[in-house]
Amino acid sequence: MLYYPEVMIEPVNYICERIEALNPIHSKKLRKSMEFFDDKYNELAGAFFEKYIQLLHAENKTLDYAIDCYLKMIADVNAETLEFLRTGKYSSSTFDEVNARVYASPETMAYYMHGLILSQFLWKHHYQVFDYFINTLPQYINTTKSYLEVGVGHGLYLSKSLEILDDEASFTVVDISETSITLAKHFTNNSRIAFNLRDIFDFDNEEKFDFITLGEVLEHVEDPLKLLSKLNSLLSENGTLFFTTPTNAPAIDHIYLFNNVEEIRKIVRQAGFQIIGERAFLSEEVSPEKAEKYKIAVLYAAFIKKADV
Ligand SMILES: C[S@@+](CC[C@H](N)C(=O)[O-])C[C@H]1O[C@@H](n2cnc3c(N)ncnc32)[C@H](O)[C@@H]1O
Repeated sequence: MLYYPEVMIEPVNYICERIEALNPIHSKKLRKSMEFFDDKYNELAGAFFEKYIQLLHAENKTLDYAIDCYLKMIADVNAETLEFLRTGKYSSSTFDEVNARVYASPETMAYYMHGLILSQFLWKHHYQVFDYFINTLPQYINTTKSYLEVGVGHGLYLSKSLEILDDEASFTVVDISETSITLAKHFTNNSRIAFNLRDIFDFDNEEKFDFITLGEVLEHVEDPLKLLSKLNSLLSENGTLFFTTPTNAPAIDHIYLFNNVEEIRKIVRQAGFQIIGERAFLSEEVSPEKAEKYKIAVLYAAFIKKADV
C-alpha cells in the first residue's frame, strides 16, 4: 500500500516513510512537496529511481544508504541555518576552507552528493528547477554541438542533457571533486563524456562551447563575477549558459551570499551577459518579499547569452 497516495512511485514512498520514522519534523516539509507533484513528476522520478537504485546496487549500497546520506545533509543544513540566522553570514568565507572541509573529503562529498540527488525529487523547488531545465533545453538541440558542465556533482543534469541533446554533440565536464567526477561517471555511464578533475579557474579549451550548465556552483566561489566572466570567455558567440544559484541558503560549502535575486541579475550583466529566460523558485510557501525579509532561500535559474554590443 502506498503511504503517500499523491506520489505513485514506490521508492519515493519508501523514502518518505523512512524519513517520517527517522526525522518526523523534516518529514512534514516533505509532505508539502508531495502535494505538488503530478503525473509528469511520477514519470520522471520513476525513471530516475530505476537508474539510481541500479547504481547503488552496483556499488553494494541500498536506498537506506542514500536516505542516511540525505538525513546527514539535512542535519548539516539545519546546523548551518541556525548559525546563519544568528550571524547573517555563511559559516565559510574562503575557497580553501570549503575545499578542505568538503570537496577534498570523500566521506563528506559522498553523503552530500547522494543527499543532494535525492533532494531533486523530494524538494518542490529543486524539482521545479530541474523541470525548467529539461523543458527548455530541447530549444537548443540544433545549436548545441558542444556542451560543457561545470560542477557536475551527482550528474543528474548531465544525464538529462545527454538524453536530450544531439547524438553528435560533444560533452565535457569540469569538477574539482574526485567524488563528484566518479559519481557522475557511474550515473551517466557514457564514454562520450570528457571528464576533467580541475578547478574551473584552471580550465581552458581551444574551442568554445555552445551550451554551458552551471548548477549550484556560483555561491561556492569567493568571486561569482569572476566565475561568470570566465564562463563568458569559454562560451561561443551565440552560445547559451544555464545557471542556478540560491539566495539565503546556508550550506557547508556555500561562500558567497546573495541576499536577493536582483544581486544575482546585477553580476550577470556585469559579466557581459543578457538574460533570455529566468525563474525564481521559493523554498517555502511565502511571498518573495517575505523570503527576502526572513532570509528564506529562493532558488534562481536563468538561461543567459552574451550581451549585444
Ligand atoms: C552543490 S554541487 C552542485 C551539483 C549539481 N550541479 C546540482 O546542480 O545539483 C557543487 C559542485 O561544484 C563543484 N565545484 C565547486 N567549486 C568548483 C570549482 N571552483 N571548480 C570546479 N568545480 C567546482 C563541487 O565539487 C560540486 O561537485
